[in-house]
Amino acid sequence: MHIRVENLTHIYNQGTPLERTALHEVNLEIEAGERIGLVGPTGSGKSTLVQHLAGLLQPTTGRVLLAGTPIHSKGATARSLRLQVGLAFQYPEDQIFEQSVFREVAFGPRNLGLDETEVKARVHWALEMVGLDPARIGPRMPFTLSGGERRRVALASILAMRPRVLILDEPTAGQDPQGRRALWEKVGQWQQETGMTLIIVSHALEELARLVERVIALRAGRVVADGPTREVLSDARLLRDIGLDVPEPVALLQALRQAGKDVRTDRLLPAEAAAEIASAWGLRRAGA
Ligand SMILES: Nc1ncnc2c1ncn2[C@@H]1O[C@H](COP(=O)(O)OP(=O)(O)O)[C@@H](O)[C@H]1O
Ligand SMILES: [Mg+2]
Repeated sequence: MHIRVENLTHIYNQGTPLERTALHEVNLEIEAGERIGLVGPTGSGKSTLVQHLAGLLQPTTGRVLLAGTPIHSKGATARSLRLQVGLAFQYPEDQIFEQSVFREVAFGPRNLGLDETEVKARVHWALEMVGLDPARIGPRMPFTLSGGERRRVALASILAMRPRVLILDEPTAGQDPQGRRALWEKVGQWQQETGMTLIIVSHALEELARLVERVIALRAGRVVADGPTREVLSDARLLRDIGLDVPEPVALLQALRQAGKDVRTDRLLPAEAAAEIASAWGLRRAGA
């Protein structure tokens, strides 16, 4: 589904002493099936932007179009388009309402009018996708879950809707590294199978490097970079400038370069950096 953001400005608490411009004239074009990483320091407007993509906020000015239809249009077309955008919140506490995990994840599919067999199948599938055992966790009351588990349940509720646009707002905060890797792998696989659009807000640059092809960077409510992942995430000056860490492999290669070694510095993953270094030392050819 094609997404277009036109001159989007969002001002919280306009006209009060707490007034705060979270987004300033943002313009974006997102094609169906793109895998996008959204980065930027805390307070740069990432969560505000993704809530607009899901139609959860009203713009102060500007608009968002889904498949050419303004997202807040009245009527069945816009409503059905909005239902195809799944946003997993940064703070899943805001999103969990039901008495049991099963009912929570089943809520969306039931609302879609699916029969109970399909609902059950989707709940099982979605919980397994996020690495939770349906039999064990299904009957639990959400408030008894750990923060990490709650985050996963919130994500499962979104997956169970089978959205065409999946937006994850800092989905792996509070997860252990192995669980994160497994989650990314499954989400990545599912994206490839379905061709859905994937938009991930994350500070985990290495994970983004593995998963997304395009990175958009925000600073103080404005888009300050938008391009191929390799270009944006190896731009150390830009990243430092907006207060983000430079990926370790890039920092390492830059140090070698400053020491006089002729290496490329746009290698985002450890294995890529290792191949680059081996090649510069004449150990073997890069990528061999
Ligand atoms: N509900 C809100 N009310 C008032 N200000 C808010 C609200 N949500 C976010 N803001 C402010 O808007 C700016 C952008 O916030 P946010 O979109 O959450 O950024 P990010 O997700 O990049 O951390 C920040 O200055 C934040 O304090
Ligand atoms: Mg946020």
